Amino acid sequence: MLERLSNKRILLGVTGSIAAYKAGEVVRRLREQGAEVKVIMTHAATEFVTPMTFQALSGNPVYEHLLDTNAEAAMGHIELARWADAILVAPASADFLARLRLGRADDLLMAVCLASDVPLAVAPAMNNKMWSDPATEDNIRVLRSRGVLTFGPDSGEQACGDTGVGRMQAPELLISHLAELFETGALAGLHVLVTAGPTREALDPVRFFSNKSSGKMGFAIARAAIEAGARVTLISGPVSLETPDSVQRRDVVSAQEMYDAVMAKMEDVDIFIGTAAVADYRPDTILAQKIKKTDENLQITLIKNPDILSTVKQRYPACFCVGFAAETQNLEHYARNKLHDKAVDMIAANWVGADTKGGFDSDKNAIRLVWREGEQELPMMSKAKLARELVSHVAQRFYVRHKSALSGDNILHFNQKESTDST
Ligand SMILES: Cc1cc2nc3c(=O)[nH]c(=O)nc-3n(C[C@H](O)[C@H](O)[C@H](O)COP(=O)(O)O)c2cc1C
Repeated sequence: MLERLSNKRILLGVTGSIAAYKAGEVVRRLREQGAEVKVIMTHAATEFVTPMTFQALSGNPVYEHLLDTNAEAAMGHIELARWADAILVAPASADFLARLRLGRADDLLMAVCLASDVPLAVAPAMNNKMWSDPATEDNIRVLRSRGVLTFGPDSGEQACGDTGVGRMQAPELLISHLAELFETGALAGLHVLVTAGPTREALDPVRFFSNKSSGKMGFAIARAAIEAGARVTLISGPVSLETPDSVQRRDVVSAQEMYDAVMAKMEDVDIFIGTAAVADYRPDTILAQKIKKTDENLQITLIKNPDILSTVKQRYPACFCVGFAAETQNLEHYARNKLHDKAVDMIAANWVGADTKGGFDSDKNAIRLVWREGEQELPMMSKAKLARELVSHVAQRFYVRHKSALSGDNILHFNQKESTDST
């Protein structure tokens, strides 16, 4: 079974509604769909259900206090905000909605909501009169206009005995709506080929030249492309990462093997994303025996490896090609040059200098996307989030290039940002 929230980090906020007892079922179903779950409870919520329930169901500690010195040391509100891929508040009380509208940060849940830039969904649950009160209606209207997603509420019999609109939406529906956030469908029906990781260029039976690439960015992009509805082939150098669900993976070692594996698959590829740190050079001969430490100086002749990105673009000009450029200086300059020299459609450039925080082997990264008519800065964020944003931009540029096949509905922005595109 395809887990719809595989590897997603969901922060569940539980507030002081009588429906708080149903939040246990929400946690259970989130985990069933592959999500990692952390729960924040408001003080009022703890009067309805115990934190112990959510701790047991989520397998994680439950977070309650904003001004808790221990919690702040281990995992402060900012850390929690950064951790999440999405926040779901279920049930969301009338009081919570009012405070959210005001931008209050007077408890942990409010502070996290304010400090986060990931999708925020609320599942209101309250008496039908509270729901239809002009104050609540106004709060909901303002929150929606700010991009807060509202799931429900449903109508039916209520805990207070009334019947009407205000019941929290059923947990299975909430989870389904949440999963849809990640399933953008922007690349539905397309074949995406991603290369990832380093290559190893053998010198003798035990030694090789390689680089620091971990493959994390490429694997995150493969996962994001699956979420966007694509069929994904991932060709990876030696890494220790699990294959994302539904991705077809082929492992290779050297640059020549990666080149051969890519070319063998290119026939029906619509989008090529080359994140692999492919060695530019390899030793001209691989020695049959281990080199002995006899000579004072050792000279090794290196010869050029085939250029995968340029060859793909030359042989398959209709394919939308994205290259990665890891630079230690003059990022913009080299990115524009590479875009031009390799005649590709987009370059994703990132810093990999000694003092950079993201890049190789890190879980975070920041990149600058450059294409012929524009560019877009994607600031430091988790590689999972960055991959989704990148895929969203690739989808937009892909459809712009294929205007004839363009349908506005195909373009979906996971996390809409202003583009500096000048077209
Ligand atoms: C028994 C009981 C049930 C309640 N149920 C709800 C409810 O379903 N929805 C709601 O918005 N408020 C409900 N309230 C009121 C909230 O608990 C109250 O507004 C509280 O301040 C919410 O705090 P919080 O938003 O910080 O969690 C209920 C109160 C009580 C005593």
